[in-house]
Amino acid sequence: MIFTLNNGQTIPAIGLGTFRAEEKDAYEAVLHALKNGYRHIDTAAIYQNEEAVGRAIKDSGIPREDIFVTTKLWNGDQGYLSTKRAFKKSLERLGLDYVDLYLIHWPKNYAKTADSYQALEELYQDGLALNIGVSNFLIHHLEHLFETAEIVPQVNQVETHVMLQNEKLQEFCMKNGIYLEAYAPLMSHHIKDLLENETLKGIATKHDATIAQVAIKYLVDRDIIVLPKSVTAARIEENLASLNLTLDDEDREKLRKLNRGRKLFPEPDNIDF
Ligand SMILES: NC(=O)c1ccc[n+]([C@@H]2O[C@H](COP(=O)([O-])OP(=O)(O)OC[C@H]3O[C@@H](n4cnc5c(N)ncnc54)[C@H](OP(=O)(O)O)[C@@H]3O)[C@@H](O)[C@H]2O)c1
Repeated sequence: MIFTLNNGQTIPAIGLGTFRAEEKDAYEAVLHALKNGYRHIDTAAIYQNEEAVGRAIKDSGIPREDIFVTTKLWNGDQGYLSTKRAFKKSLERLGLDYVDLYLIHWPKNYAKTADSYQALEELYQDGLALNIGVSNFLIHHLEHLFETAEIVPQVNQVETHVMLQNEKLQEFCMKNGIYLEAYAPLMSHHIKDLLENETLKGIATKHDATIAQVAIKYLVDRDIIVLPKSVTAARIEENLASLNLTLDDEDREKLRKLNRGRKLFPEPDNIDF
């Protein structure tokens, strides 16, 4: 399943996340994912696995243009020239000529983020990043960005899962032509809370599916791009197969009620890194 972004480019609805996947695990996970139907990989400079991700892409033998690759600008590299330098290093580590999506990983102070975004716009115009966007941006960060940006971001990647559904942020983004990407869709280091949830268990049993599949498909059904991470072969396959699951209105209504506004990652206005 694919979504079409505001510039006509397409993006697979599910991408493999690679946060906290070390070199060897990342290589094997990406290779396994690509051999089993994934065509979308999410990495970042800070994950320190771009080189492994790039090698797995190459070794998969799949044509480059068939794979959607995202990487991100780390906070310490924000600024116009430093963004350009950081991007070049990411490309070198990935062993690629271009990326499909380049994101500003976290909002910093407005002036710095505006300078970084200007660099992203030039990378976009030069065809080095086919799409550009932001991550961890709340509505006010986007509003400030719009004051200087010439290109509307294609995506905003934010923490989103059944317990943090981001309906208002998504509505704002969609109104402005920006797709939401869900990171930590399985509640990341708090996945136990997801796997033990009785509502999710009930819906999974009803459809002979797994809890992870219910959690992922619910977001895809809301037109959200979802980035489950796994370094476990069977789970990598299980997560993509969530696309085969058909949830009904009653399921979706039950899932909607699980929203708690529960944030597991730092508040974007409060980061000290
Ligand atoms: N932009 C940002 O600031 C930001 C922040 C965080 C994450 N991200 C991106 O979003 C991706 C996803 O977020 P995340 O990695 O934090 O968390 P996640 O995808 O919500 O959860 C990953 C955890 O779930 C486990 N898991 C995966 N599939 C499973 C399944 N079917 N059944 C049971 N357990 C399963 C994984 O274990 P195993 O790996 O051991 O299988 C891992 O412990 C990241 O990898 C990264 O690419 C972006």
